[in-house]
Amino acid sequence: MSAKLRDLTDLRIGVLCGGDSPERAGSLASGDHAHRALLSLGLNSELLDPASIRMDLLPDRIDVALLALHGPGGEDGKIQGSLETVGIPYTGSGVLASALGMHKPTFKGLLTQERIDTPRWVMVDPKISVESTLSMVRHTLGFPVFVKPASGGGSLAAGIAKDEHALRAMIEAAQADQYAEFMVEEYVQGIACTVGLVEVEGRVRTLPVHDVEPKGDFYDYASKHDASLRTEHCPSILPAPTTDTMKYLADRVLRLIGAHGVLRVDFMVGASGRVTVLECNTVPGLSELGNLATMAAAGGIPYPTLVQHVLQTAYTKPAYVP
Ligand SMILES: Nc1ncnc2c1ncn2[C@@H]1O[C@H](COP(=O)(O)OP(=O)(O)OP(=O)(O)O)[C@@H](O)[C@H]1O
Ligand SMILES: [Mg+2]
Repeated sequence: MSAKLRDLTDLRIGVLCGGDSPERAGSLASGDHAHRALLSLGLNSELLDPASIRMDLLPDRIDVALLALHGPGGEDGKIQGSLETVGIPYTGSGVLASALGMHKPTFKGLLTQERIDTPRWVMVDPKISVESTLSMVRHTLGFPVFVKPASGGGSLAAGIAKDEHALRAMIEAAQADQYAEFMVEEYVQGIACTVGLVEVEGRVRTLPVHDVEPKGDFYDYASKHDASLRTEHCPSILPAPTTDTMKYLADRVLRLIGAHGVLRVDFMVGASGRVTVLECNTVPGLSELGNLATMAAAGGIPYPTLVQHVLQTAYTKPAYVP
């Protein structure tokens, strides 16, 4: 199916980036690169930071919003809801899919219902004692475990707890953290992989799989931003049945949450070949050096074209998306 594409020439495009989430720095990079790509295509783009604009004045200024916001507020349905309210078309998923994709325990619950493998997990409930949480983890997951915010991103505030002592310290630190909710996952030793999906001329394309082996314990914030701290391949060098499984699952995840236009689904591949879904990103990093752009390039899509495809997704949403 080939869709009729929107002529982008005379549109006033607002690239929304920054915001006030912990992922602000990554969002500014995404926005800056996407904005330059749009300018290089001769399009009319301006950078706008939702942390310092009035949403009700936005329709006087832009015709369409390219979302380059990551984390709470920008990726969880909130900005999407504001844009729906003021009547500005925006890229990517609607309110519901954004919320489902951002909240890891809800997303993992959906995967579990569909019998899609995801690491087992328990929530850190601040209303119960740290002792009780430690006991629950001991009996359900064992050690080591992986601790992360329920609505985090960029590997921020995430890490491995090798034993109960380390987990106790992490839970105590979590209670003072800006993220309201934390979870503890079964630790899966393996290779971190990701699969990008982007709509091209009305059809979702599954991009080549990206794999990474960080030099440290896991794919943390530092190794995501410093290429010397990781070894990566795109297309992945994992066996074809494994990469095919990830591509198949990425597409199922897109349908499962009702994501629109663009998505990145993250996996761990264990030593035995186990493919388990970690999480998904409805507004994946858009920087020219990021994983989505790397996967697009491996799939023959140059960076400015990728940004153009993402922009088109603002005009290919069904008339009503929850
Ligand atoms: N259960 C786990 N077992 C082992 N490692 C894990 C586990 N969960 C996460 N990791 C490691 O942490 C990295 C980041 O995890 P995850 O993708 O869940 O977090 P994120 O902060 O949402 O990431 P993103 O940057 O994609 O938004 C993974 O790539 C992996 O290296
Ligand atoms: Mg991830």
